Amino acid sequence: RQPWPGLIEQYREYLPVSDQTPIVTLLEGNTPLIPIPAIAERIGRQVRVFVKYDGLNPTGSFKDRGMTMAISKAKEAGAKAVICASTGNTSAAAAAYARRGGMRAFVLIPDGYVALGKLAQALLYGAEVLAIKGNFDQALEIVREMAESYPVTLVNSVNPFRLEGQKTAAFEIVDTLGNAPDWLCIPVGNAGNISAYWMGFCQYHQVGKCDRLPRMMGFQAAGASPLVTGKPVPHPETIATAIRIGNPASWEKAVAVKSASMGNFHSVTDAEILDAYRLLASEEGIFCEPASAASVAGLLQVKDQIPTGATVVCVLTGNGLKDPDTAIKHSQSQFKQGIEAEIKAVAEAMGL
Ligand code: F0G
Repeated sequence: RQPWPGLIEQYREYLPVSDQTPIVTLLEGNTPLIPIPAIAERIGRQVRVFVKYDGLNPTGSFKDRGMTMAISKAKEAGAKAVICASTGNTSAAAAAYARRGGMRAFVLIPDGYVALGKLAQALLYGAEVLAIKGNFDQALEIVREMAESYPVTLVNSVNPFRLEGQKTAAFEIVDTLGNAPDWLCIPVGNAGNISAYWMGFCQYHQVGKCDRLPRMMGFQAAGASPLVTGKPVPHPETIATAIRIGNPASWEKAVAVKSASMGNFHSVTDAEILDAYRLLASEEGIFCEPASAASVAGLLQVKDQIPTGATVVCVLTGNGLKDPDTAIKHSQSQFKQGIEAEIKAVAEAMGL
């Protein structure tokens, strides 16, 4: 069997690259599509549910799919530095790929709202990290303007190569299932990924790799749900800091995806997100970050709308290890500390 060559080589014929493009890759992609039977059972009616566990990419999130493309194309164009705004994952991926490609990486993050693991990654990969007194939307506005007047290439998802790379997740799902799922449930922040998935499914449909298209179900956190309410949220708030975004850059694209796919946007509360987050870990053995659990929280919220026998894929966008603080903070009841180092005390603490 051939080893996995990374997603650009795997899907070269569907991507805007040529023999001149220097491929910067960490062999991202090829992530597992894992059945989640305990959650499927809660829905019943022979519904099959899988998660696309993109937290197993090299830097731990789906951003690697977009970044291998964006950085390869930036390098091809002779860029010496890239810049992005980020709630954390984009900064980690941009840093890793830019440094691997021999470029500087500047990342703007909302001060105090980036999960610990993501910050650690960006720093160690060698990014120049600028924490601003503002939220993601403000950071994005700044970097968009900076990329126009300074010699830095913007690698947020408004860079079209990002979506080209990210669409390959849809290819992988179809390659594994043999067709598109009936439903795709996905967390939505800046709305790049939902747009990318739809591009991927449509492209595969066009070349006959699947004979249907999924209903695209986008889920936002209740405190940051502009696509649900229809207007920007000036002060977005949610425990799922990855999707703490009030004015998505790909707003129009996402609305077009909703209508073309007969899908919908819904909001899920932080409590629903945390329930799904714990459920995935404790019943399925899958540790994702809180924002990713929004896809499963959303599925459980609208489960009665799923047709009998349908196939559903929930996208788990990021690895749980990204945000150890949230995991520990919300597991206190299981965590018995300060136990004497002797069998009797341990047995007692175990309730034996
Ligand atoms: N899930 C995770 C784990 C994310 O990091 C993001 C976005 C999303 C979902 C939403 O994807 O923006 O394409 O709708 N994170 C960006 C970042 C904003 O900076 O890392 P989207």
